[in-house]
This record gives sequence, structure tokens and C-alpha cells, in this order.
Amino acid sequence: MTTVRLADYRPAPYLLSRTDLTVRLWADHAVVEAALAFAPNPAAAEPAPAPLRLAGVDLAVESLAIDGSPLGPSDIAKDAVGVTIHQPPQRPFVLQTRVRIAPHTNTTLEGLYVSGGLFTTQCEAEGFRRITLHPDRPDLLSRFRVRIEAEQASCPVLLCNGNCVETGHLEGGRHYAIWDDPFPKPSYLFALVAGDLEEVRQPFTTASGRTVQLRLHVEPGDRPYTGHAMASLQRAMRWDEQRYGLEYDLDEYNIVAVRHFNMGAMENKSLNIFNSKLVLADGETATDGELERIESVIAHEYFHNWTGNRITCRDWFQLSLKEGLTVFRDQSFTADLHGASLNRIENVAMLRNTQFREDAGPTAHPVQPDAYQAIDNFYTTTIYEKGAEVIRMLHTLLGEETFMQGMALYVSRLDGSAATCDDFVRAMEYAANEAWNTGGPTAEHPRFDFEQFRRWYHQAGTPVLQIQRHWDGERGELELHILQHTPATPGQPQKQPVVVPLAIGLVGQGGAPLTPRLDAETPEQAKASKLPVCWGHGSRLLVIDQAETRLRFTGLPSQHHPPALSLLRQFSAPVKLELGRPVAELVHLLAHDSDPLARWDAGQLLLRRAVLARSQGHGDGQLEDELVDAFARILSDPSLSQASRAVLLSLPGQAELEDAASDAGIAPDPPALFAAGQTLRQHLGQALASPLRQLLQDCQQQWALSWPEGQADRRLTGLIWNWRITAGDASVIEQARRAVDGASMSLARLALAALQCHDLPQRHSASAAFYARWQHKPVILDSWFALEASAPFGDGLARVQRLLEHPRYDPNAPNSVRAVLGGLAGNAPVFHASDGSGYRFMAEQIAALDQRNPITASRLAKVLSRWRSYGPERSATMRSALEQLAAAELSPNTREVVEQCLAD
Ligand code: BES
Ligand code: ZN
Repeated sequence: MTTVRLADYRPAPYLLSRTDLTVRLWADHAVVEAALAFAPNPAAAEPAPAPLRLAGVDLAVESLAIDGSPLGPSDIAKDAVGVTIHQPPQRPFVLQTRVRIAPHTNTTLEGLYVSGGLFTTQCEAEGFRRITLHPDRPDLLSRFRVRIEAEQASCPVLLCNGNCVETGHLEGGRHYAIWDDPFPKPSYLFALVAGDLEEVRQPFTTASGRTVQLRLHVEPGDRPYTGHAMASLQRAMRWDEQRYGLEYDLDEYNIVAVRHFNMGAMENKSLNIFNSKLVLADGETATDGELERIESVIAHEYFHNWTGNRITCRDWFQLSLKEGLTVFRDQSFTADLHGASLNRIENVAMLRNTQFREDAGPTAHPVQPDAYQAIDNFYTTTIYEKGAEVIRMLHTLLGEETFMQGMALYVSRLDGSAATCDDFVRAMEYAANEAWNTGGPTAEHPRFDFEQFRRWYHQAGTPVLQIQRHWDGERGELELHILQHTPATPGQPQKQPVVVPLAIGLVGQGGAPLTPRLDAETPEQAKASKLPVCWGHGSRLLVIDQAETRLRFTGLPSQHHPPALSLLRQFSAPVKLELGRPVAELVHLLAHDSDPLARWDAGQLLLRRAVLARSQGHGDGQLEDELVDAFARILSDPSLSQASRAVLLSLPGQAELEDAASDAGIAPDPPALFAAGQTLRQHLGQALASPLRQLLQDCQQQWALSWPEGQADRRLTGLIWNWRITAGDASVIEQARRAVDGASMSLARLALAALQCHDLPQRHSASAAFYARWQHKPVILDSWFALEASAPFGDGLARVQRLLEHPRYDPNAPNSVRAVLGGLAGNAPVFHASDGSGYRFMAEQIAALDQRNPITASRLAKVLSRWRSYGPERSATMRSALEQLAAAELSPNTREVVEQCLAD
């Protein structure tokens, strides 16, 4: 296996101005002719004449010529992953190639493949080389002109990037279409679709008054389920105009829904391809969460048109340039549409359960990695979600105005080019300096060192702030002593301090914000913060950039206990905090913190402690009593929304619980943690029976409202069902059972989830009813597969095996695979059974899947990555499952993950 290194990046020796293709699609193969217009690159690193390297995978090369003259065996060298032309001309030339490919048997879902009779493509990151010989590197932008030929009857619709400039009939019942894309683009943004599709069309008028045709293409019969996606696209387009001043640049925008797709969706220029589960939806067929997800993914892919397509990535080490930034943009979009604080809480919960876990394990890597083997393995939560957090920190530190100036500068400097993460940071740095030189830094937007900020891109691992405080109750002085460190990660034993924007607040006894003076302790601090004391909204933004920082707040009321310390408000940085705050202080914050995120976080800390205590066999009665009281107040507080109630009462995820155990020096025991969560829900469900019953009735009034209305009431209903069913409430069990037959997918799925963990007749009949109703809708049936695979009782693995053999299970659809095997991985008692049977089963399945679809297999293999964190027995059995996998014949993708997991 070869390792690709950032340090080895060199500009291409030959520039590529045009990629002209003719793609002939046949019933059992395809032929692709390409004409590539090259010219020596004056900025090339190597001395001329450099060889020309063309990538090509699983291609039968039929001919190769330069300017019409065939190339002979001595002119080229062929290998398994491409062709090298030894001495190309040192002037502009056209390379002509013809290759034959096999889309019908392509189960990798990369390159050109067939999904349910539909020809479709997926080229990011390196799929274009499975279609034709090509340099296939993101820094080569060329103009594409593509002629597609296919049978008229089976492929009436022929789509590609750009504008359709010509169509016509051919002999033998065939036809063709020619597409021209005026925007030069890297090959990973190429897309082609041919098949029998139904279309929904709507015009959109841009801010400058141009009309864009928005076209959604779906399988025949699916037209009724396109309204939500179409409306979402229009909202996204309008939002990008209003917030970023960015307008769409072509006359049409196409989205195609396909059933077989490795990822969620792909931003190919003017021809987005979507996993059908992220397009087809209405209130009867999708949950509230799915509708919001679809809206955000449609927006995400649309936003890439500027942050990704117009400005693309120089190399794959810069992936977060487009993905982190675009996630930040889609998060802002969802926050604007549906409320910032709840959206932030959901994103933080997800970050903690996925990215923090990645950062603490064997596959940890920086936002800008410096080496990889298989690039597909690097579409990670670190690149995406931590990358978005890094951008968000810039936004927090600089403020909206300066950040937007930086964005505008980034776009104007780099439009039409292939850029690096540092190009982005440099634009922000320029805007920051402008702002600091004119208005000067302010308390809300303090000065910081950009050079040091850049460490966020290069250091893996989650920084930890250890905080000690000293309270002088007589003088009313609070001192904070903050130690910053980042744990070692593979290949990075030593870390340096990063720039941590830390938003804090002090919450007084009655809940009122306190706003003391802040004394700078060191000369540097004094210099850095020649600032007026400022507590906008009771919060203060501190920049913690040293390994050790001392801060003193003076002028606080003298009292015995220190004021409650609200930290990391709005989750101002992706860090962990270590400080011992007593239960009473957290309860106070849970009751009074004016920052919704910090308030939620206080509750999460209490819940984590409660679950952890139960998992060790001794529930903390006093803590639980406090929780019950706090929750009772939350349930009855008229100033709180149902959405806030639902969020404040949600238990932390399983991954977070495991982390909390590790942080407390206890080897996590997943089945015990899972069981502890269940018994805690049962206890809360009993102790809060009467307010929950009352609230359930209130929620019920809103059930019938359509998304986004009513979603908070439905979510809270699900939580109450869950707690009350766990507490054995027979009438709620019946109510949930009935909801599965109702008209709302959200309620049906919440009901199934609430019944999920209980081996009750109602659960089985609910599951059977859901299956009977939706068995002909694969997208919906996948959620049934996931529920069945994760039911934590009964004959575990045997049931999973039956699901894999189920007549409606499609082993070539990643959605189905993830539903069943992902469901198993989330089934703590079965997957983590102490005899290792769950791990062995998973390893066998991954090895088999890897033969068909390496991308999906290697992503799944990461469920075995945390073996070191468990106790000796589990650790050994999980490790041996990895070794079993390592002994199998594996793709480079899966091998890279397995080796990372096993490395010392
Ligand atoms: N560019 C990616 C899709 C992609 C990733 C294609 C990896 C090939 C390999 C796309 O923009 C994306 O990020 N999609 C996400 C959803 C998004 C909302 C975070 C996905 O597919 O999960
Ligand atoms: Zn993306």
C-alpha cells in the first residue's frame, strides 16, 4: 500500500484545458472515448520533459493516441492503477483514448455503475479514473463537453453537467445528448445519469433576476415525494443570496435520487446525485428529524456550488476547506430557519458522540491530515464536524461582520481556483487585521495569534482544559487556574497549546448574571486584553492560548459559596473541560443558566454521573433526587418551550457515556451502561409520572401539525412514551402501539423506538404492522431493518442473520447494510456480548462486504476501533476480531483502517 503525503505535493507537469467525452451506454457494458487537451505547465516542479501520469482503474484500454498518432508499447507503461506516457510533446497536444468499462457489475458504487436500471456516477474522490484514463486530480480544472449515447426506451433521460446543447436520434432505437459545462471543473465533480426517470420542475428567480430551472429526477412513481426537497432547495438558494451574497451561476440545477449510493449526497456541478433517502419524503413517509436532515443536506450540496465547486481543493489534504466550511454554512442555515440554540445543542451532542470518540482512538487525525493511504477513509467526522467547529471559532472570535469580510475576500481572491485551507485562513487573517487596525480589538472580539490558531488544522486530539478555582468569599474574588493540554494521538506524541475561545458567565444566587472586573495577571495578558470589562448578555469571551492561565475576577458579592460558573457557553470551542463542580452548582445552572447550551450541558453532566453510578451497581440516590426535582421544575416551568424540555431531559448518547466512564478511570462496560440508562429512565418515568402524563396530554393537541410545526411536541411525546413504557405504563404502551398505524411517520417511529427495548407483545405487533405497511418502500423499510437489528433482547445474532437473509434485504444497497450492521453495532448487549460473538460476527460480515464495496466496508470497520478502551476481556475479543479481519483478503481501504486499529 502506498502512502500519499502532503509534503510530496507538486503542481501537475501538464495543464489540462479540456475534457471531451463520448460515453456509449450498452445493455452490458459501456465504451468511453476521451480527448484531453494538455499543455506543459510553466509552473511545473520537475524539469521537462516530465512523464504524464494518467490514472485508470478497472478499465480495458482499447486505444491511446496523441494528436491522432497511436502510442506504441515503448511509449507507455501500464500498471494496475494507470498508464504513464514517458515523453509527451513539449507543446499543447490532445490525448485520445478509448476504454471499455463494466457498469453493470460494478458493486463498488464508484465510477459509473447501474442502480436499479439507472446508469449513474460517483467520482469524488477518485472515481473518475474508473470511467476513463485521466490525471484525476482536483487541481486540474478543465472544461467538459460530453456526448452521451444510449437506448431510447430504457434510457429516455440523459443528464450531465452544465447545459444541454444538442439532442438527437440515432439508428437502432438509440439517441444522444450533448452537454457543455462552461465552468472549468476538477474531474471529481463530473456526473452522468441515464435512465428512465420522472421529472419535477420549478423555476427559481435569482436575486439578480435570472431564471434557473430546478429539476428533480426520481424513479417513476416517486413524484409525490419530491415537494419537500424542492422547497428545501429554494430556501437554500434564497438563504445563500441573503446571507452570503452568493447566487447560482447556471441556467439549470438538477438533482437525481438513486437507491444505491455510498454516501448521503454529492455536489457535482449542476447535477447533484442524492441517496434516495435524502430526497423522497413527506410527513407520512419521513420523520421530523429526517425532514430537517433532508433540508440541510440539500442545502449543503447546494452551498458547495461556491464553497467546493467555484473554489475547489488543491489536493485531498485540503478536504476540510470545502467540507468543514460547507458544514458550517449548512449549520448556520438550519440555525436561522429552525432556531439557533436547539440546533447548536444537537450538533454538539453529535460532535461529542462521534468526533470526540474519533479523536480519542486509533484513527485520530488532524483537520488537515498530512498523509493517507485510501482517501475515502478520510471523509470523517473530524474533517467535517471538527472542521466546521474550527470555522465557527473564527466566526466567534472575529464576529459576524469581520468574518463575512473574510469570506468575501476568500471568494474574490480564489474564485475559479483550487485552494488550500491556509488560503482560507489567510483571507480571514487579512480581514481580522483590517478590523483590528481600524476599530481595534474589542472585548467581544479580542486579538489572537493566527499563527497559533492554525494549530487547530494540524494537531489531532481533543484539547482538555483543566480548571481549578479559588474563591475568596470575604473579598468576593474568584481566581481561575486553567491548564490546557491535548492528549497524544497516533504519530503526534507532543502537542502545543491552541487558541481556545472560552465563553463564560457567572450566575448569581437568584439566577442573575454577575459581571465582575477581570484583572490581567501577566504582562502579556495585560497587553492582549487592554480591554474594557465587557459582559455582553452576561457572557465574556476569554482567549485561552497558554499551557497555563490564571485569571482573577474581583468585585463579586461576598458569600460563602462561589458563584456558579457557566463555562464553554454556546460550546465556544471543541474542547473538553475538567473541573469538579458540585451537584448543587450544576443543579443551579440547570435551573438558571441564561445560555441554553451551558444550561443543557449542566443537565448532561448530572445525567452522565447518574448513569455512571448506576452502571457500577450503586445508584446515587441523592443526585437522582436532585435530578427529579430539577426535571419536575422544567416540566412545569411555563417559560420553557416543549423543545427545550425535550432537549434538557434527553439522556447522553452511548458513546458519550463510554467516554465519561473512561474519563473517570473506569473501563466502559457498554451493556452495563445501556442497562443503567434504561433503569434510570424507568426511575424518572415513575418519579415524574404525573407531570409526564399531564404534559403528554398537552403535546397530543399538537400531534397533527405538519413539520416544522408540532415537531417539539412530537419529540417530547417520544421521550415521555419512552420513560413511561420503561416504567410499565399499560395505557401508554397501547397508545404507542396504535401510533404505528397512524398518519404520522414521526409518531410511528417514536412509538417503535419507545417500544424497542421491551420484549412485549405490543412491540412485536407494532413491528409487524410497520413492516406490513411499508414493505414496498425500501427507504422506509431500512428503518425497520435498523430497529430489528438493534432490539436488545431475544436471539440477537440469529435475528441479525435472518435479517441479512431477508428477501427484502439488498446487500448491494449501503443503506440496507448500514441499517442491519450499524443497527447491530448500536445494540450494546448483543454486539458487546462478553464472549466476543458479536465482534466475530461483525468481522465476518465486514470481510464479505469488503469484496463488494470497500468504501462502505472500511467505514463500518471503525466500529471495532475502540477495543483498547474496554476492560481486558472485551479488549481481547475485539482485538482478535480485528486480527481475524486482518487475516482476510482486504481492499486497501479496509486494510488501512484495520492496521490503524491494530497499530501499537
Ligand atoms: N462531497 C460529499 C460527498 C462525498 C463524500 C462523496 C465522500 C464521495 C466521497 C458531500 O458534499 C457530503 O459531504 N455529503 C455528506 C452529507 C453532508 C450534509 C454532510 C454525506 O454524503 O454524508
Ligand atoms: Zn460536502
